[in-house]
Amino acid sequence: MRDSYLEEYFTFLRFPSISTDDAYNEQLAECAHWLVEKLTKIGLETQLISTPGHPIVWAKNKHQPGRKTVMLYGHYDVQPPDPLELWDSPPFDPVLKNGYVFARGATDNKGQIFAHILGIQETLEEHGDLPVNLHLIIEGEEEVGSDNLPNFLKEHRDSLKCDVAVVSDTGMIAKGVPTLSYGLRGVTACEIKITGSKMDLHSGVFGGAVANSVTALARLLATLHDENGHIAVEGFYDDVKPLEEWEREAWRNLPIDGDKEILEETGSPALFGEEGFSTLERLWARPTAEINGIGGGYQGKGTKTVIASHAMAKLTFRLVPNQDGDKILKQVRKHLEKHLPPGVTMEIRDGHSGPWYLTDPHSAVGEAAQRALKEAFKEDVALIREGGSIPIVSQFREILGVETLLLGLALADCRAHSPNENFPVENLEVGIKMNKAILQEIGQSAP
Ligand code: BES
Ligand code: MN
Repeated sequence: MRDSYLEEYFTFLRFPSISTDDAYNEQLAECAHWLVEKLTKIGLETQLISTPGHPIVWAKNKHQPGRKTVMLYGHYDVQPPDPLELWDSPPFDPVLKNGYVFARGATDNKGQIFAHILGIQETLEEHGDLPVNLHLIIEGEEEVGSDNLPNFLKEHRDSLKCDVAVVSDTGMIAKGVPTLSYGLRGVTACEIKITGSKMDLHSGVFGGAVANSVTALARLLATLHDENGHIAVEGFYDDVKPLEEWEREAWRNLPIDGDKEILEETGSPALFGEEGFSTLERLWARPTAEINGIGGGYQGKGTKTVIASHAMAKLTFRLVPNQDGDKILKQVRKHLEKHLPPGVTMEIRDGHSGPWYLTDPHSAVGEAAQRALKEAFKEDVALIREGGSIPIVSQFREILGVETLLLGLALADCRAHSPNENFPVENLEVGIKMNKAILQEIGQSAP
């Protein structure tokens, strides 16, 4: 691989494009401008589309009739790097160590986008043209729910008409094993606030006479699951599509020991999850209820004898086919209201929902993707679903009427969203090959 590739990748990584924090708006804009320049330089017609949030980068080649049209999609925004003290090197000062690049966004999603860009660049250099009509869309709001992308897709529905979308923002089951993901979980969120007394109280003077909001919240949250890890919200599993026998069989035969890897990677003392399902099934095909954060009462040094007035918790639910986010939030609200302990009041604020996705890995484009993966990696392709969510993928289907090929390059230990995020240079190299191959395969695929 050329030295310049790594230099440019590092430049891309140096922008602290943290979409969730307004303090970084300028840096997101600078990052988007840098992409526009790079894409223009390799020969694409590139525009910056402003939105009420962060801008969208939209690049095209010269479209010709009679060719397949492909949309490649990725995001230049990243998650916050906190907690900073757990990084071995600064998150926006990339370093190369033992073949791995360490930086926030190295994998999610700058490394994977950069593989798209270099795949396009090399194809243009070698052939003077691409074998397809291309739309490359790189947004800056994926990590905060892609709020402004659906409107962009709707406004430009006709110009964006395409045959298939390709996204590299998912995982590989192991290094060197090409992986086609044919499903994603969805996600929906809510926030709970519990109030007892109007202020924190002396626990000697009032303790025993009024309810403690933190105790009430703890008891309430504990009703979400039974002791076997099954979610206890009434109706929660009603719409869950059972796993197909072929999938269970295929996942059992994947060349990985999911249990061992997850124990190692997470550092948890033991695996725990819903009874009756393997680890991979729990991750890829079963829904979850998670408490993402909890707070209330005194959290400073030493002891403080108070009864907490307020308590709060943030919840998210990972959803699977055919669950509906809004319906789940209603069921959750009903459950929480029913189990609210006495002596406190509760406010629930619904967050946004992103749907799950499921497609056929054996469709014509699915087969083209498998051929491209095999050609780039020279190994058999693993067909999996994913535990994570990319909400916009279901919008590609709804608004543009296309299926999405999820050709991820992320490794299980890439530390996406965590300190010391990293991406092996090897994956950038093979990612370039994969992108060249997918453009060719789609270009040649049957009408
Ligand atoms: N690249 C991830 C999604 C992902 C992670 C897919 C792991 C497959 C495996 C994406 O950038 C992401 O983090 N998505 C968020 C979506 C949320 C903010 C709506 C997620 O899954 O939490
Ligand atoms: Mn992410």
